[in-house]
Amino acid sequence: MSHFSTTQYDSFSGAYDSVNDLPITRAIVPNVERLVAPYIKGARVLELACGTGSFTRHLLDWGASSIVCVDVSQSMIQGAQSELEHYSQHKGKYRFMVADCATPFTVTGGEDGTTSQEGQFDLVFAAWLLNYAPDLPTMTEMFKNIARHLAPGGRFITVLPHPEEDPKVCIDHVNAQYEQGYGYRVDVREGLPGAYKGYLVELHFDTDPPVEFGNYYLSMRVHEQAARDGGLTGKLAWEEIRVPEEEEVLNRYMKEPIPKGYLDEWLKYPDFGILVVEKE
Ligand SMILES: C[S@@+](CC[C@H](N)C(=O)[O-])C[C@H]1O[C@@H](n2cnc3c(N)ncnc32)[C@H](O)[C@@H]1O
Repeated sequence: MSHFSTTQYDSFSGAYDSVNDLPITRAIVPNVERLVAPYIKGARVLELACGTGSFTRHLLDWGASSIVCVDVSQSMIQGAQSELEHYSQHKGKYRFMVADCATPFTVTGGEDGTTSQEGQFDLVFAAWLLNYAPDLPTMTEMFKNIARHLAPGGRFITVLPHPEEDPKVCIDHVNAQYEQGYGYRVDVREGLPGAYKGYLVELHFDTDPPVEFGNYYLSMRVHEQAARDGGLTGKLAWEEIRVPEEEEVLNRYMKEPIPKGYLDEWLKYPDFGILVVEKE
């Protein structure tokens, strides 16, 4: 049972990009670039929870041959469509679909739009999807959708809160960093039942305009179990988060250049993690 409307983003899709403009959010991009680099050239990509398309454009820039973008919010997808229209070089390579990734869905393709594309994607990418699952069964449903759409040997790469056995450790670090001015805080609304620690939370961003939304911080063990139960039985890795050493490379993805050393404190405990799971 979800505590939120699945379309909570409909009301603030226009403001969401202010979240993506925070330096610590932008620091996700070079990490994703490094981890997709070996697989992205010519890849058929399925992007889940695409939101306003901030990663969609990058995935195409980095060499994806095509991308199908899924989100539960029609208005986030509208934002993504208008964003992508600025990049004429990618015309014809992307399309959008409204679907809830926590219930079974099938991406279709072909001339008539009825041919199933299950088992046809080389890469499934999702930034901030799994943290909309309130429990193991729901996250397992998400993984089932991912596993069904991946080709054998394909992989799922996902951005999510910094992995912990008890996510309260992550929440406490984020709130300490909020005091240092990194941009958002996490309020715990309730502890969730279950064998592993998990929390219903609200995120508050000090952006202009301010943005608030709710989701769930579940144990890293729930993610591992859901991946396996959902059918992704290949190699599973929690990846290291880094910051490019050269200022020029780092600032390439910032909205405005950040001062040298700005991310040093944050890098002691990055607020996000990246999980990569292969399909055998
Ligand atoms: C924090 S935003 C991230 C958007 C984008 N990936 C990014 O990094 O900019 C989370 C997105 O997940 C979408 N979302 C939440 N629950 C979902 C679900 N069950 N199925 C599909 N999309 C979902 C929301 O509509 C929203 O666009």
